[in-house]
Amino acid sequence: MCGIVGYVGHRPAAPLLVEGLHRLEYRGYDSAGLAVLVDGRLETRKAAGKIAELEKLLRNGGQPIGTCGIAHTRWATHGAPTTQNAHPHVDCHGHFAVVHNGIIENAGTLRQKLEALGHTLRTETDTEVIAHMLEEAYAGSLEEAVRAALRQVQGTYGIAVVSTHEPDKIVVARRGSPLLLGIGENGENFVASDAAAVVQHTRRVVYLDDGEMAVLTRDGYRTASLQGGAVTKEVIHVDWDLAAIEKGGHPHFMLKEIFEQPETLRNAMRGRLLEEEGMVRFGGLNLTPDELTAVKNITLIGCGTSWHAGLIGEYLLEEIARIPVEVEYASEFRYRNPVVGPDSLAIVISQSGETADTLAALREARQRGATVLGIVNVVGSTIAREADGGIYLHAGPEIGVASTKAFTSQVATLVMFTVLMGRLRGTLSLIQAREIIAALRKLPEQVEKLLGLNDQIGELARLYKDSTNFLYLGRGYNFPAALEGALKLKEISYIHAEGYPAAEMKHGAIALIDENMPVVVIAPNDAVYSKIVSNVEEVKARGGRIIAVVTEGNHELKNKVDHLITIPETIDPLTPILATVPLQLLAYHIAVMRGCNVDQPRNLAKSVTVE
Ligand code: G6P
Repeated sequence: MCGIVGYVGHRPAAPLLVEGLHRLEYRGYDSAGLAVLVDGRLETRKAAGKIAELEKLLRNGGQPIGTCGIAHTRWATHGAPTTQNAHPHVDCHGHFAVVHNGIIENAGTLRQKLEALGHTLRTETDTEVIAHMLEEAYAGSLEEAVRAALRQVQGTYGIAVVSTHEPDKIVVARRGSPLLLGIGENGENFVASDAAAVVQHTRRVVYLDDGEMAVLTRDGYRTASLQGGAVTKEVIHVDWDLAAIEKGGHPHFMLKEIFEQPETLRNAMRGRLLEEEGMVRFGGLNLTPDELTAVKNITLIGCGTSWHAGLIGEYLLEEIARIPVEVEYASEFRYRNPVVGPDSLAIVISQSGETADTLAALREARQRGATVLGIVNVVGSTIAREADGGIYLHAGPEIGVASTKAFTSQVATLVMFTVLMGRLRGTLSLIQAREIIAALRKLPEQVEKLLGLNDQIGELARLYKDSTNFLYLGRGYNFPAALEGALKLKEISYIHAEGYPAAEMKHGAIALIDENMPVVVIAPNDAVYSKIVSNVEEVKARGGRIIAVVTEGNHELKNKVDHLITIPETIDPLTPILATVPLQLLAYHIAVMRGCNVDQPRNLAKSVTVE
């Protein structure tokens, strides 16, 4: 996720800014940059790649000597991770520099307006429009110019701005992206998107809330609302250590990422749902509605967790859009002469966008004449670049090796893509599409609620942490969720676990069931609920210990199972998202109790770039 640091004081700003950027490295980034005010001019340095590249530039090209500046680590969302697209961005005449976290949804429209007014935009980013809007709006007050510019912006932002017109001043504003002020002791102040960047200098911070802004000088700061009224904020003493701050107060990145899911789901859907029209809009498919309608079959390709998302995609697209779908492990697809050709759409799913087998499968599909779309999290990754078009997840960097937030966003994205295909192909009515979109909108809040089960699931984990085997059962949309639940447990706790289609259990896995076998049954209120109740009976009859994931208000299973985990009511296609969250937590707690390295499990890699 992008990071912001700003400094105004009496010390040279550049080294302090770079130091702050280093503290934000753990968040993941692909380029970095800074802008410092030097004798009434703005000096900007930017570099693609690691902060070390920026430091090289500062060593070789000269360090801007000034005491006020802003800096940024970028994690690409709009535009590839190039030096040019790195922040800060400046206006036509180099009077304003801006760093930005978040996504500006109406950047396209704003860009057109600015170009019509004669501005030259030099990057592919959504952020650059802000610099040019400031140039338009400035009439003697930087603070007012920021207000005026932001009034036109739709989307989310945490921004910091400096200007040659008002040196020794930083103006910041927040809507939807975190920002805090670090209150220094001796004539200096800081701003950052994350306390990690300032705590080595000050532990006194002011957290801005959405709709607020602040003006920082070396002698003080002033907070106000974006509308203009003054706002009084409490100064908070931060006493966490750095490691805890980086993980947002969570003991592991995996837990942090599980808890980010309400937000990452929002980000996956932001600006894409057209409820009235019962439609979904993606900016980067590079395919016309006619081309999408002409698709005869779809092949979904991925590895690991991404393959599980693909499996849900198959159920979705066949059920709702009535297109024949195959789901392929990337490593198998490459070597088995698949029936894929010019009528086919291949969708490669990859969090990292770098998995070697998935990339090779993309190339294979392309060579056979298929159109290739990527569902990818990391912007500018190889898969994202090589695909004909695609959909970004906007989930932010996933650092825990076991994928969590990327999975739920992949599934939500596949649901959205299915709505698009269903509507284009006429298999999904306006009313049905609206119903799906309404359910998608409720999802982040429902996941938020589910996260409240964390303690209960921790207790459950205590009961089963010493088990040597686990079985996960699900049917329909929740068979892949069973696979994913089992994979999470295997990956991080090293307990053998198998996911099974619940009814298929009778043909083999049932032989394993005895009183030592915990069986997780995913049984929400969906089309196959009554069928899975029979499977619960079968397990019970053989003494298995059952943990059932059911919909709130289910009283039927209470007496038949050992433990209930309840998830909120939703439509069938979204049940695997809600069912997966408690299973992520279960795996997490069991792994912690077993003393495993949750974020970096043995033998596994976050991004497998070898065959
Ligand atoms: C590795 C990771 C898994 C991930 C898989 C696919 O095995 O450990 O968590 O699901 O790769 O990765 P991708 O980045 O292509 O989604």
